[in-house]
Amino acid sequence: MSFFFVHSVAQSVSPVVIETNNIAIVLTVAGNQRLHQSYIGKKLPFSDYMAMKGGREVYLTAGMENQFEPAVRMIHTDGNPSLELRYLSHKQTDSGNLKKTEVLLKDPVYPVEVRLYYVSYFKEDVIKCWTEIVHREKKNVLLTQYASSMIHFNSDEYWLTQFHGDWAREVNIVEEKLTNGIKSIESKLGTRTNFYQTQMFFLSMNKPSTETEGEVLAGTLAWTGNFKFTFEVDQRNGLRVLSGINPYASEYNLQPGEKFTTPEFIFTYSANGKGLASRNIHRWARNYAVLDGNKPRLTLLNNWEATHTSFTETKLVELFDEAKKLGVDLFLLDDGWFGNKYPRNDDKNGLGDWQEDKLKLPSGIGYLVKEAEKKEIKFGIWLEPEMVNPKSELYEQHPDWILKLPNREENYGRNQLIIDLVNPEVQDFVFNIVNDMLTKYPGIAFIKWDCNRSMTNAYSPYLKEKQTHLFLDYTKGLYKVMERIRKKHPHLPIMLCAGGGGRTDYGAMKYFTEFWPSDNTDGLERIFIQWGYSYFFPANTISAHVTSMGKQQSLKFRTDVAMMGKMGYDIRVNNFTKQELEFSNEAVKTYKAISDVIWFGDLYRLISPYEESRAVLMYVNENKSKAILFNYFTTTRRKDIFSRVLLQGLDHQKNYRLKEINLFPGTKSTQPDNEKVFSGEYLMKVGLNLAPGRANALSSTVFEITAD
Ligand code: GLA
Repeated sequence: MSFFFVHSVAQSVSPVVIETNNIAIVLTVAGNQRLHQSYIGKKLPFSDYMAMKGGREVYLTAGMENQFEPAVRMIHTDGNPSLELRYLSHKQTDSGNLKKTEVLLKDPVYPVEVRLYYVSYFKEDVIKCWTEIVHREKKNVLLTQYASSMIHFNSDEYWLTQFHGDWAREVNIVEEKLTNGIKSIESKLGTRTNFYQTQMFFLSMNKPSTETEGEVLAGTLAWTGNFKFTFEVDQRNGLRVLSGINPYASEYNLQPGEKFTTPEFIFTYSANGKGLASRNIHRWARNYAVLDGNKPRLTLLNNWEATHTSFTETKLVELFDEAKKLGVDLFLLDDGWFGNKYPRNDDKNGLGDWQEDKLKLPSGIGYLVKEAEKKEIKFGIWLEPEMVNPKSELYEQHPDWILKLPNREENYGRNQLIIDLVNPEVQDFVFNIVNDMLTKYPGIAFIKWDCNRSMTNAYSPYLKEKQTHLFLDYTKGLYKVMERIRKKHPHLPIMLCAGGGGRTDYGAMKYFTEFWPSDNTDGLERIFIQWGYSYFFPANTISAHVTSMGKQQSLKFRTDVAMMGKMGYDIRVNNFTKQELEFSNEAVKTYKAISDVIWFGDLYRLISPYEESRAVLMYVNENKSKAILFNYFTTTRRKDIFSRVLLQGLDHQKNYRLKEINLFPGTKSTQPDNEKVFSGEYLMKVGLNLAPGRANALSSTVFEITAD
């Protein structure tokens, strides 16, 4: 830690500057001791910050003169529903790339303190912020609103990009102009919370931003529970952006001395469009936010789409051979391996009973782990530890461990209920499922953690009269379990899944190495879905499996699509033709040779499938010596004229050799520029013709671009 300083009201307070390599926020203290946001945007000369004053109040409260949506609202012990926050002091601590700013605000009348925290990541141009609320009143106060942050903007226009969807059609992108009033993006789903709305957005100033142009803020919330972003354009065209936990049905009784800590709102600000914003977030995610974000991932063969729940021990061992034939690192056993009184032969039975099904797996998991080891592949397993089927021993033995409403019928989602993760006994149960399994079978090298329903029956037997704490405490309970798991098993790869992509957020990703974006694995659909997630998540977190969905597409097309993310398979390899097997085996080798560029390189989205009937993107490694370009046609129609594609991110001075890779056996490249050498300047200014003689079927090309 290199320096530390504290200001307090006794001194004259100079502006509080929160800065990264390219962006800055400036907070100033007004004459009435209120804290204002005087600036947010591109970095400026320091002297400019020092001359700043005025702006809007940083963390607007309810009950005083503010009549817009507040960041915080509280009802004091005596019933007074107002809060005033005055600046008291701040301190900044610097530790290399990270700088932490803490601003203490206090109510002049009631013993309430609010601390605003900002951590800036200098190189990545990312800032995360959160808030802590604490009081010393005699009894509980009631918190009814508690945003992580509030940010103000003053532009002529605001353009919001949101990501919304549903099962099997996740993260569709929509950009629209904000008009007067409130637009909110939120979830009340409790679990699997980003099923319909995803907690990530872009906010473009003055006009819609493109990949390379425009001022844009990219924001996301690190919270695996109900979230809410509120965009309020006021009567003077000022915009307030509130981010945080959704306070819906979640009034919180805060005890004297108890700290209420909000989740982190994470953002970057780019003056050069969305592409740069994504790259900032990706770098930050790999360096700081995703578990082992800078480490390699395992390629795998999963058996879900190939077998569903009907398999035998022998069939699984056969599948190990198929994994071996492919050349992947791991076999992932999916749903259906557990339950004895209620064997898991369909989704109506057995959830909660995490013992091997003795009929299906008479020799147990240990045998499977050993067989996999013999065949020199790793073994992974599927779990859905937060759930229970009414047809299960768990349901029979622990009715008090299950979320359900008194006096009401149970409401099912995929025939299942949620267990009460607020209850420490239930947390122990979930921790033990994972820990016991990993202790008993240390050979288990991977877990897929699923969560297949949202929270109805939202009533915790454990919380009794404090039901409004359920949504918050459930997520905190999940984090407590994950903390414990990670303490004992710090690096085990775990894939986060929620009936497809219902849980994708940076609150969870510090415990997980990757996530499952969608149950829709059709290659064409996946181009759009993976494209959507690519705005906020690096490629090594986005699992992409080659399956038999989208059969009308060639295996090459589906493989090329999986390659742009974290590649895996979920398909019967024994049904492959000789050539398909040869192709896939080569593809896995190719992927292993280029995956460091895909996983750790900079992503440039060149042509969006939302704008043209094709998608083109590329990854470039740090020293710009190697790039991988993916080019997909999303239509078989001949209506489009496709212009040349200008590459990005290369070194103007370097010469690059182009090589088409991942070709199907017996085919040759039809790309006119294959095996040619061009300067970076040429590739970025003149570009490539990537659309020669397209076939009728959906087609794709992958180029390896290497500095000569
Ligand atoms: C969810 C997951 C799938 C699969 C099934 C198993 O739908 O998204 O990948 O694991 O559960 O039941």
